Amino acid sequence: MRRKYVAGNWKMNLTLSEGKALIEGVLAGLPGDCAVDLAVFPPFVYVHPLLGFLKGKLEIGAQNCYFEPSGAFTGEVSPVMLRDVGCHSVIIGHSERRHILGETNGVLKKKVVAALEAGLKVIYCVGEKLDEREAGRTEAVLHGQIHEVLGPDVSLERVTIAYEPVWAIGTGKTATGAQAQEAHAYIRREIGKLYGPGVAESLRIQYGGSVKASNARELMSQPDVDGALVGGASLKADEFVGIIKGAMAAQSGR
Ligand code: PGA
Repeated sequence: MRRKYVAGNWKMNLTLSEGKALIEGVLAGLPGDCAVDLAVFPPFVYVHPLLGFLKGKLEIGAQNCYFEPSGAFTGEVSPVMLRDVGCHSVIIGHSERRHILGETNGVLKKKVVAALEAGLKVIYCVGEKLDEREAGRTEAVLHGQIHEVLGPDVSLERVTIAYEPVWAIGTGKTATGAQAQEAHAYIRREIGKLYGPGVAESLRIQYGGSVKASNARELMSQPDVDGALVGGASLKADEFVGIIKGAMAAQSGR
């Protein structure tokens, strides 16, 4: 059985002291029997200073990285550097990187490969925009985002995929459980074609897009939804803990 995985993407928010307080708040609210995997993804500059606050209960990751290990790339941060300071994981291909910062599938493939080579875990994000969904192109978009980035040359052992429909991110519009399940099942089928049924069955696929405490359990109860990548609601300790409890309830079928 796939263990649920709940991750908080802080985006470009919070001060360092607010970040510390948030982590302390989440740890204080965590049920003792928390049997789901947890991670937070603060801005780069807070990754190292926050490592000492995780109490072995949370992992920490970065929201992006470059694909070269070192060199003349002013302003970039390499996956080797992230690993060096103790970072566990990195988000690659978030829709804000794709659509605001112009990252293409070609660049994202290099980033996924480099991050895995450096020893990081990866959350690789995919998802369609509203006009693409309305034009009936959801599966075509997901197909490109999967097949142009993943494949037999990229091991999925340390990869989680996050399905984040762009129209649901930060909008308050959540995909229904059925919409999420349909997209997740499609992604798992495509992964099966690339890697075979065993890998597809063990791959975790998170849902992201306006996840909150009130909808977390329903979404994560879908058979192919293995966790959540949470933006806005991960900035409030009680809301994030509520989502974690939703994941626990979905996992135990309670
Ligand atoms: P949201 O963001 O939860 O604020 O919609 C999700 C994400 O962008 O990862």
